[in-house]
Amino acid sequence: MARDKTLIVGNWKMNLNMGEASLYVHQLSKMVKPHRDVEVILAPTSLVLQSLSLQINPRQFKLAAQNFYWRDQGAYTGEISASQLRGVVQYALVGHSERRHVFHESDKDTRAKVQAAIRNRIKPILCIGETAFERSEGETNDVLHDQLIGGLANITSEELEQVAIAYEPVWAIGSGQNAVPADVTAAARAIRSQIKHLYGEKAANNIAILYGGSVKEDSAADYLALDEIDGLLVGGASLDAHVFNEIIKKAHKPASAGKE
Ligand code: 13P
Repeated sequence: MARDKTLIVGNWKMNLNMGEASLYVHQLSKMVKPHRDVEVILAPTSLVLQSLSLQINPRQFKLAAQNFYWRDQGAYTGEISASQLRGVVQYALVGHSERRHVFHESDKDTRAKVQAAIRNRIKPILCIGETAFERSEGETNDVLHDQLIGGLANITSEELEQVAIAYEPVWAIGSGQNAVPADVTAAARAIRSQIKHLYGEKAANNIAILYGGSVKEDSAADYLALDEIDGLLVGGASLDAHVFNEIIKKAHKPASAGKE
């Protein structure tokens, strides 16, 4: 995905019911000023995607699915497909650490989902990151390498233009223990170097890389200031519309507002 906008994604996970989601969007829509250099993406429960798609101003917010099944239709009780989400969401999270670790999704599942999203004109945000153990063993770059290769197998250079990568170290998610900016830069460089190896230098320079893991109002700006980082994937701190708005505000760079 091109790096012309900073992407701020709010992943609500399994929080907020229908009434709460609608109230939240009502509140946030009064606060957020649309800017050309910022894309605000909400990833609520699937239950409210359709109603929120009618409630939001599409210039102000985009929607993302937190999950979906990779087949387009069929006898898969309880699942939602990317083809059913088509036209409702513009983005989808794929390979989130909670999908990998709580629901045991493999790289094979992840790759099938990246393909299903692209097939249905939904931009996948491929989430990758190492566990605390892998980090302590010095395996971070190997894990990023394996998850990238695993998730992007069969994706062409042209299709890669639809993909964003989110670096979310598992140990930083929901722990309050966020990665230090220097480590985030190092991980993003490792990701770009792997993309360069797979797709060439242009693709590596062009792909959007987000950081996620215990991002809060007071740490957001530190990550957004990093040259390698093109946005944030925010969990807990996105659940309060006021706090999320403070994070969104940090993404708009008046210096680049010449584009507006
Ligand atoms: P937290 O911001 O709550 O750590 O969650 C991060 C995350 O998993 C976003 O997808």
